[in-house]
Amino acid sequence: MPERYAKITGWGKYVPERVLTNADLEKMVDTSDEWITTRTGIKERRIRGENEQASDFSVKSALPALEMAGLAAKDLDLIIVACSSPDYLVPGVATIVQHKLGARCGAFQITSGCSGWVYALVTATQFIQAGTMDNILVIGTDLVSYGVDYTDRTTCVLFGDASAAVVLQPSEEPAGVITYELGSDGSGAEHLYVPGAGSVMPISKYGDRLVKERLGYIKMNGPEVFKFATRTLASSMKRVMDKAGLLPEDIALFIPHQANLRIIETAARMMHQPLDKFMINLQKYGNTSAASVPLALVEAIEEGKCRVGDKVVLCAFGAGLTWASAVVLLGSGEVSLAHSWLSLGRLAKRTVGKARDAVQAFLLNVQMRRLEAKRKAKAR
Ligand code: ACO
Repeated sequence: MPERYAKITGWGKYVPERVLTNADLEKMVDTSDEWITTRTGIKERRIRGENEQASDFSVKSALPALEMAGLAAKDLDLIIVACSSPDYLVPGVATIVQHKLGARCGAFQITSGCSGWVYALVTATQFIQAGTMDNILVIGTDLVSYGVDYTDRTTCVLFGDASAAVVLQPSEEPAGVITYELGSDGSGAEHLYVPGAGSVMPISKYGDRLVKERLGYIKMNGPEVFKFATRTLASSMKRVMDKAGLLPEDIALFIPHQANLRIIETAARMMHQPLDKFMINLQKYGNTSAASVPLALVEAIEEGKCRVGDKVVLCAFGAGLTWASAVVLLGSGEVSLAHSWLSLGRLAKRTVGKARDAVQAFLLNVQMRRLEAKRKAKAR
């Protein structure tokens, strides 16, 4: 067990005012509210104002998080922004956020699609557990609307814009990320990507083709990503719970990436858990990529669906293909510790049971072999 934990001490969110409903999308592409609702669960999403950038979103979600943690920007030791839709391709958005906040610390961006913020949370936790930093701001921001082709009905109905942030600080009591899993399968990179404007097709050389073939927008192989997501969500959540010695009944709330209601329903079925144990706010925001999991976490706390002392499981998945899960203890304290002793007890019982079964099978095997040897000896 680590001597220092990274406790979540503040949180905040920002969603823009402009709402894009399914009815609005019906006027833009060949789709219907009925199709979007039954296939995804999404009813509306938020879209950035004309001059709002990822750095503005990030600052707006960071300020309430800092205030709640009782910190000023100058107290920060590090800023990590998970973002795949930064103000500029270079530099990463984190330095702009650092400047706009007036912080005097290192800052970097993690580009890992929808999994980015959970990657960032786990990364920040390592610095605090190592004892090298005390106050870290972890932001998830995406303005997916700028990368979406609003003539492509297979993607434009899914995404929205948002930002959410947490502050991490050291704690001697168990708190924050307890166990985690980070995953990547780059063989699926082209299932969800922006083909143009990288080094494969630089704008300088392929500019006309990029515009004509709309290659600067997100392209997604929906059914493949769907299969990957349903496979990953339940299994990854289960693995992080196993690592922590926890059972689903020890978890107050599952907070999955808000991509598609059907993906969450499938995970709930596979885990034999009721759907109301899963945080769902995708009907209001759609898939907000790196902002999705932290936004769901912040709203779950605001709505009283989880509280200090509760354990929640986060799981994100997306472009890469990547995934990231974590068991997170909100706040810190003895209640949670007592819970984990109980769970450890149950885990020990299960392990002893498995060991007993293995020993019995071994003894049975030995007995069978002896009988077989005797039978052969007699036959001779
Ligand atoms: N309106 C009406 N019809 C549509 C729409 C739409 N918006 N989109 C697709 N269709 C049509 C298709 O053209 C197809 O028609 P056809 O049978 O005539 O060819 C039909 O609906 C079925 O299409 P599918 O793609 O098979 O539909 P599916 O049920 O798989 O749902 C969806 C599509 C919602 C995209 C689903 O595949 C999905 O959710 N995939 C996962 C997306 C995801 O999780 N992304 C997460 C990562 S995001 C990130 O990292 C940034």
